[in-house]
Amino acid sequence: MRIPYRPLAIGLVTLAFSALVLARAQSGDRHFFAPVADPVVKEECGSCHLAFAPSMLPARSWQRMMGELDKHFGDNASLDPATAEKITSYLVANAGDAGGQRYSSKLLKGVATGAAPQRITELPKWVSEHRKVPDWEWRHKEVRTKANCIACHTAAEQGYYEE
Ligand code: HEC
Ligand code: HEC
Repeated sequence: MRIPYRPLAIGLVTLAFSALVLARAQSGDRHFFAPVADPVVKEECGSCHLAFAPSMLPARSWQRMMGELDKHFGDNASLDPATAEKITSYLVANAGDAGGQRYSSKLLKGVATGAAPQRITELPKWVSEHRKVPDWEWRHKEVRTKANCIACHTAAEQGYYEE
């Protein structure tokens, strides 16, 4: 395999950026949701839509979703069992309530204990944060669906949801 110079340069930039992101995350930035870092998850769960930040849903949501990938919001997103298992572990380990903590508690506020919501866009807190977004904006041809976070949050892939 050829190893060109460019990826290295990009790697360095990414590293500098990660350090910045980490610093902001540690300072408890409420707009920050750590993006998917695992390349397999990024590829398999980021091909049809943004690879959603695992901390936006509780662990039980991911467990349920990963067990029903053949019926994934009207799509078949099935994976081989080994890959599915790997992805499930990653999502669960980084879930909003991982290890009993709730570092995304603002977004998970109002979700009943034991519930396994399947949509971030149906979380009570998500709905209230977006109540001011007018109907025409959701229907805009560059948006089309509430799940298209990146249309409005241009830095969503880096974990930022300021606006
Ligand atoms: C074959 C395409 C496809 C793949 C692959 C895929 N998804 Fe989806 N996903 C969809 C569609 C379609 C929707 C519904 C989007 C909408 O409502 O506009 C969706 C919605 C979602 C939602 C809910 C978004 C909301 O409304 O809050 C989550 C969470 C999600 N997917 C996670 C995953 C995960 C995790 C993976 C990897 C295991 C994955 N997806 C892989 C097609 C896919
Ligand atoms: C049509 C544009 C639009 C789309 C699509 C959208 N958002 Fe937002 N979002 C907004 C706006 C506008 C606000 C700010 C609301 C306010 O400050 O009153 C917001 C606020 C937020 C916040 C709160 C940030 C804070 O200030 O604390 C989060 C988190 C968030 N969005 C996540 C998401 C996620 C995740 C998705 C995709 C599943 C998404 N948004 C899709 C427009 C959008």
